[in-house]
Amino acid sequence: MAHSQSLSNDSWLHFITSNPRRGCKYLGFCACLAFIFLSLTWLRDDERPIDKPLLTSTKPPANIPFKEAPVSSPDSEPGLEDAGPILNNLTVAFPPLPPADDEEYVSLCLAIKDQPGDLDEFLAHYYYHHGVRRFYVMDDGSDPPLSYTPNFGIPPFAVPRSAVTFTYIPRVPDRPQPFQHTIYADYCVKNFGERHTWMGFFDADEFLEMRRATTLVDWLHQWEKNETVGALSVNWITHNSGGQQKRPQSDTRKGFRRCVVDRPDGRNADEENSHVKSFAKTALFDGVNSVHNMRTAYGTVSVGEKGDECMIKRVPITHDVWALHHYSVKSREQFLEKQQRGSPNNHHAAGEFWDRIEDADDYECPELASYVP
Ligand SMILES: *[C@@H]1O[C@H](CO)[C@@H](O)[C@H](O)[C@H]1NC(C)=O
Ligand SMILES: *[C@@H]1O[C@H](CO)[C@@H](O)[C@H](O)[C@H]1NC(C)=O
Repeated sequence: MAHSQSLSNDSWLHFITSNPRRGCKYLGFCACLAFIFLSLTWLRDDERPIDKPLLTSTKPPANIPFKEAPVSSPDSEPGLEDAGPILNNLTVAFPPLPPADDEEYVSLCLAIKDQPGDLDEFLAHYYYHHGVRRFYVMDDGSDPPLSYTPNFGIPPFAVPRSAVTFTYIPRVPDRPQPFQHTIYADYCVKNFGERHTWMGFFDADEFLEMRRATTLVDWLHQWEKNETVGALSVNWITHNSGGQQKRPQSDTRKGFRRCVVDRPDGRNADEENSHVKSFAKTALFDGVNSVHNMRTAYGTVSVGEKGDECMIKRVPITHDVWALHHYSVKSREQFLEKQQRGSPNNHHAAGEFWDRIEDADDYECPELASYVP
């Protein structure tokens, strides 16, 4: 949209300044006209909300309880309607979308509980902006199960149900706590690993950004043949609440646009962004060390974007090729809900963690705010 706008500006300018029938005395007048016209156009552009296409969508605001699917038994799950024809119009997507990974070269495995709205945004982000076509959702006892949700995605951008494989893990009395990431990552690789060259282990509050022309799939291809590399890790960019008490009306990527600096000083200082998450080569996966780090087999190692070996943390922190935006607290309201829900990875004392993120120096980081869908 922005492109066609600037093109038409250029042709106006061209028409006005190059029309040979105008004499020199009209040049000043024409230049003045052009200036006014361009100013008006630019002004209109500035006023246009960056996410205009979403304003016309039919998605209810995130704080309205999600419409529940007709409750059916797990046995009838295969009979659920698929998303059907995809009603999107890819020409409004931003930035331009990469090709679909139809071979399912890379897949994502995540654990989640009771967050259908978050799952919507997560799936849409990776499906459209990274071409991912296979998601393994380990449902940590959601009520109702997330697989009962009929459609995913951000309208009008549906994510076909056929791209999502659900596994439901009921919470039983002897497992009241969230199940551990060690279980879900092992489960994903053991059951589905052979179908993919790479598998990524992210959470629903982590959104990947590729910062160069390279797509995710191309980037992984570049590392596939390197026999010393078993996993590829990406540093976090941690977003704070931006001072928001309440859940924003917009989606997460638009709602939180401030990030903690890589190297905060002072009290509570911790290099939050030194943490990494990983894509592992499924053939070399040897188990889980932590949510941040997978063990890799045959003497292979995990490396960061510069080929440097790393484990749970990676310092110096760099985000040249890619970055993993981590919405770790969101608004105060959402943070408290998250504590209530219990996260498989959350071993922080709640108050201390909030203070650490909120007290650190921060900066504007709107990179993902203009993404559609
Ligand atoms: C998408 O929108 C563009 C511009 O409005 C239109 O020309 C095109 O036909 C649409 N494509 C689909 C698949 O609806
Ligand atoms: C493979 O990656 C390692 C670690 O970054 C690097 O040192 C080595 O040069 C790479 N090998 C090839 C063949 O590119």
